Amino acid sequence: MIKISPSILSCDYSKMGEEFERMKQCGADWLHIDVMDGHFVPNITLGAPVVKCMRKCSDLVFDVHLMISDPKKYIPDFVKAGADVITFHIESDSPVEETIELIRSLGCKAALSVKPGTPVESVFPYLEKLSMVLVMTVEPGFGGQSFMESMMPKVRALRDEINRRGLDVDIQVDGGISEKNAKLVGENGANVLVAGSAVFGSADPKETIRSLKALAAQHD
Ligand code: DX5
Ligand code: ZN
Repeated sequence: MIKISPSILSCDYSKMGEEFERMKQCGADWLHIDVMDGHFVPNITLGAPVVKCMRKCSDLVFDVHLMISDPKKYIPDFVKAGADVITFHIESDSPVEETIELIRSLGCKAALSVKPGTPVESVFPYLEKLSMVLVMTVEPGFGGQSFMESMMPKVRALRDEINRRGLDVDIQVDGGISEKNAKLVGENGANVLVAGSAVFGSADPKETIRSLKALAAQHD
Protein backbone atom coordinates (compact mmCIF):
# COMPACT_ATOMS: atom_id res chain seq x y z
CA MET A 1 0.00 0.00 0.00
CA ILE A 2 1.63 3.25 -1.17
CA LYS A 3 1.25 6.34 1.02
CA ILE A 4 1.97 9.94 0.08
CA SER A 5 3.19 12.30 2.79
CA PRO A 6 3.34 15.88 1.49
CA SER A 7 6.18 17.82 3.13
CA ILE A 8 4.68 20.97 4.57
CA LEU A 9 8.09 22.65 4.30
CA SER A 10 6.77 23.78 0.92
CA CYS A 11 3.32 24.94 2.13
CA ASP A 12 2.15 28.47 2.82
CA TYR A 13 2.59 28.72 6.60
CA SER A 14 0.36 31.82 6.74
CA LYS A 15 -2.65 29.59 6.04
CA MET A 16 -1.69 26.20 7.41
CA GLY A 17 -5.23 25.10 8.25
CA GLU A 18 -6.41 25.62 4.67
CA GLU A 19 -3.30 23.99 3.26
CA PHE A 20 -3.71 20.86 5.41
CA GLU A 21 -7.39 20.55 4.53
CA ARG A 22 -6.51 20.97 0.86
CA MET A 23 -3.98 18.14 1.13
CA LYS A 24 -6.56 15.89 2.76
CA GLN A 25 -9.07 16.62 -0.02
CA CYS A 26 -6.34 15.89 -2.56
CA GLY A 27 -5.79 12.39 -1.17
CA ALA A 28 -2.71 12.85 1.04
CA ASP A 29 -2.33 9.97 3.51
CA TRP A 30 0.03 11.67 5.97
CA LEU A 31 1.52 15.13 6.57
CA HIS A 32 5.32 15.24 6.72
CA ILE A 33 6.51 17.83 9.23
CA ASP A 34 10.19 18.78 8.95
CA VAL A 35 11.76 19.90 12.23
CA MET A 36 15.24 21.47 11.91
CA ASP A 37 17.37 22.95 14.67
CA GLY A 38 20.05 24.90 12.78
CA HIS A 39 22.65 22.55 14.29
CA PHE A 40 22.07 19.05 12.92
CA VAL A 41 21.22 20.74 9.60
CA PRO A 42 21.97 24.30 8.46
CA ASN A 43 18.35 25.46 8.59
CA ILE A 44 15.70 26.17 11.25
CA THR A 45 12.00 25.43 10.90
CA LEU A 46 9.64 24.85 13.82
CA GLY A 47 9.22 23.12 17.18
CA ALA A 48 6.62 21.29 19.26
CA PRO A 49 4.47 24.39 20.09
CA VAL A 50 3.81 24.87 16.38
CA VAL A 51 3.01 21.17 15.90
CA LYS A 52 0.50 21.50 18.75
CA CYS A 53 -1.28 24.30 16.85
CA MET A 54 -1.14 22.28 13.63
CA ARG A 55 -2.86 19.41 15.43
CA LYS A 56 -5.95 21.62 15.83
CA CYS A 57 -6.15 22.06 12.04
CA SER A 58 -5.85 18.48 10.81
CA ASP A 59 -6.66 14.89 11.64
CA LEU A 60 -4.20 13.45 9.10
CA VAL A 61 -1.33 11.29 10.40
CA PHE A 62 1.47 13.58 11.59
CA ASP A 63 4.75 12.19 10.28
CA VAL A 64 7.35 14.21 12.20
CA HIS A 65 10.89 14.17 10.78
CA LEU A 66 13.32 15.37 13.43
CA MET A 67 16.53 16.78 11.93
CA ILE A 68 17.88 17.81 15.31
CA SER A 69 21.04 16.95 17.28
CA ASP A 70 19.40 15.65 20.46
CA PRO A 71 16.01 14.17 19.54
CA LYS A 72 15.63 12.22 22.81
CA LYS A 73 15.40 15.44 24.81
CA TYR A 74 12.41 16.67 22.79
CA ILE A 75 10.48 13.41 22.17
CA PRO A 76 7.95 13.94 25.03
CA ASP A 77 7.15 17.45 23.71
CA PHE A 78 6.48 16.19 20.19
CA VAL A 79 4.35 13.29 21.43
CA LYS A 80 2.28 15.67 23.57
CA ALA A 81 1.97 18.01 20.60
CA GLY A 82 0.25 15.25 18.61
CA ALA A 83 2.90 13.43 16.54
CA ASP A 84 1.84 9.99 15.29
CA VAL A 85 5.12 8.77 13.77
CA ILE A 86 8.43 10.21 14.96
CA THR A 87 11.52 9.81 12.79
CA PHE A 88 14.96 10.69 14.12
CA HIS A 89 18.41 10.35 12.58
CA ILE A 90 20.82 7.58 13.44
CA GLU A 91 23.56 10.22 13.00
CA SER A 92 22.12 12.33 15.86
CA ASP A 93 23.75 12.46 19.31
CA SER A 94 20.95 10.58 21.10
CA PRO A 95 21.35 6.91 22.10
CA VAL A 96 19.45 5.02 19.39
CA GLU A 97 17.96 2.16 21.40
CA GLU A 98 16.85 4.41 24.30
CA THR A 99 15.30 6.95 21.95
CA ILE A 100 13.31 4.27 20.11
CA GLU A 101 12.13 2.86 23.46
CA LEU A 102 11.09 6.31 24.66
CA ILE A 103 9.03 7.02 21.53
CA ARG A 104 7.30 3.63 21.80
CA SER A 105 6.70 3.89 25.54
CA LEU A 106 4.84 7.16 24.93
CA GLY A 107 2.52 5.44 22.45
CA CYS A 108 4.04 6.72 19.22
CA LYS A 109 5.46 4.88 16.23
CA ALA A 110 9.25 5.06 15.98
CA ALA A 111 11.25 5.49 12.78
CA LEU A 112 14.95 5.89 12.04
CA SER A 113 16.51 7.82 9.18
CA VAL A 114 19.82 7.60 7.35
CA LYS A 115 21.50 10.49 5.55
CA PRO A 116 22.93 9.80 2.06
CA GLY A 117 26.43 9.03 3.40
CA THR A 118 25.28 6.53 6.05
CA PRO A 119 25.09 2.81 5.20
CA VAL A 120 21.55 1.47 5.53
CA GLU A 121 22.87 -1.62 7.34
CA SER A 122 23.33 0.65 10.38
CA VAL A 123 19.57 0.45 11.06
CA PHE A 124 19.36 -3.34 10.74
CA PRO A 125 19.90 -4.03 14.48
CA TYR A 126 16.80 -1.94 15.30
CA LEU A 127 14.35 -3.13 12.61
CA GLU A 128 12.20 -5.23 14.95
CA LYS A 129 11.32 -2.10 16.97
CA LEU A 130 10.71 0.29 14.10
CA SER A 131 7.52 1.04 12.19
CA MET A 132 9.48 2.75 9.40
CA VAL A 133 12.93 3.55 8.04
CA LEU A 134 13.51 6.79 6.14
CA VAL A 135 16.17 6.65 3.46
CA MET A 136 17.06 10.27 2.60
CA THR A 137 17.34 10.88 -1.13
CA VAL A 138 18.90 14.35 -0.61
CA GLU A 139 21.14 15.82 2.09
CA PRO A 140 18.66 16.93 4.79
CA GLY A 141 18.13 20.65 5.31
CA PHE A 142 16.21 22.11 2.40
CA GLY A 143 13.28 21.40 0.11
CA GLY A 144 13.55 21.56 -3.66
CA GLN A 145 16.83 19.63 -4.08
CA SER A 146 17.58 17.02 -6.76
CA PHE A 147 16.76 13.36 -6.14
CA MET A 148 19.80 11.10 -5.66
CA GLU A 149 19.21 7.96 -7.69
CA SER A 150 22.36 6.47 -6.14
CA MET A 151 20.34 5.84 -2.94
CA MET A 152 18.24 3.12 -4.62
CA PRO A 153 20.55 0.21 -3.73
CA LYS A 154 20.07 1.19 -0.06
CA VAL A 155 16.29 1.03 -0.42
CA ARG A 156 16.55 -2.34 -2.18
CA ALA A 157 18.88 -3.81 0.46
CA LEU A 158 16.57 -2.60 3.22
CA ARG A 159 13.43 -4.03 1.56
CA ASP A 160 15.19 -7.37 1.06
CA GLU A 161 16.24 -7.49 4.72
CA ILE A 162 12.74 -6.56 5.96
CA ASN A 163 11.22 -9.27 3.74
CA ARG A 164 13.85 -11.80 4.76
CA ARG A 165 12.89 -11.29 8.42
CA GLY A 166 9.16 -11.24 7.63
CA LEU A 167 8.68 -7.80 9.21
CA ASP A 168 6.08 -5.13 8.52
CA VAL A 169 8.26 -2.00 8.32
CA ASP A 170 7.48 0.92 6.00
CA ILE A 171 10.25 2.36 3.85
CA GLN A 172 10.03 6.09 3.33
CA VAL A 173 11.99 8.14 0.80
CA ASP A 174 12.38 11.90 1.22
CA GLY A 175 13.98 14.46 -1.06
CA GLY A 176 13.34 15.35 -4.69
CA ILE A 177 10.52 12.82 -5.10
CA SER A 178 8.37 13.52 -8.16
CA GLU A 179 6.54 11.80 -11.00
CA LYS A 180 9.97 11.37 -12.65
CA ASN A 181 11.23 8.91 -10.01
CA ALA A 182 8.12 7.56 -8.19
CA LYS A 183 8.15 4.36 -10.28
CA LEU A 184 11.83 3.78 -9.53
CA VAL A 185 11.48 4.21 -5.75
CA GLY A 186 8.44 1.91 -5.74
CA GLU A 187 10.28 -0.74 -7.73
CA ASN A 188 13.08 -0.67 -5.20
CA GLY A 189 10.70 -1.23 -2.31
CA ALA A 190 9.77 2.19 -0.91
CA ASN A 191 6.10 2.53 0.09
CA VAL A 192 5.88 5.96 1.77
CA LEU A 193 6.78 8.86 -0.52
CA VAL A 194 7.46 12.30 0.90
CA ALA A 195 6.91 15.05 -1.66
CA GLY A 196 7.23 18.76 -0.95
CA SER A 197 7.74 20.84 -4.05
CA ALA A 198 6.20 18.22 -6.35
CA VAL A 199 2.85 18.42 -4.52
CA PHE A 200 2.71 22.02 -3.28
CA GLY A 201 4.20 23.33 -6.52
CA SER A 202 1.69 21.43 -8.66
CA ALA A 203 -1.15 23.18 -10.46
CA ASP A 204 -3.23 20.05 -9.73
CA PRO A 205 -2.03 18.47 -6.45
CA LYS A 206 -4.85 15.92 -6.47
CA GLU A 207 -3.71 14.57 -9.83
CA THR A 208 -0.05 14.67 -8.72
CA ILE A 209 -0.80 12.62 -5.59
CA ARG A 210 -2.87 10.13 -7.59
CA SER A 211 -0.13 9.82 -10.17
CA LEU A 212 2.68 9.42 -7.58
CA LYS A 213 0.71 6.59 -5.96
CA ALA A 214 -0.02 4.86 -9.25
CA LEU A 215 3.60 5.12 -10.45
CA ALA A 216 5.04 3.81 -7.18
CA ALA A 217 2.56 0.91 -7.17
CA GLN A 218 3.33 -0.20 -10.71
CA HIS A 219 5.62 -3.04 -9.65
CA ASP A 220 2.86 -4.76 -7.62
C1 DX5 B 1 14.66 17.91 3.45
C2 DX5 B 1 13.33 17.54 4.07
C3 DX5 B 1 12.34 17.11 3.06
C4 DX5 B 1 11.96 18.16 2.05
C5 DX5 B 1 11.40 17.52 0.83
O1 DX5 B 1 15.60 18.07 4.45
O2 DX5 B 1 13.50 16.47 4.98
O3 DX5 B 1 11.18 16.60 3.70
O4 DX5 B 1 11.06 19.09 2.54
O5 DX5 B 1 11.12 18.49 -0.12
P1 DX5 B 1 11.18 18.18 -1.67
O6 DX5 B 1 10.16 17.14 -1.96
O7 DX5 B 1 10.87 19.49 -2.28
O8 DX5 B 1 12.59 17.71 -1.98
ZN1 ZN C 1 11.71 15.42 5.65
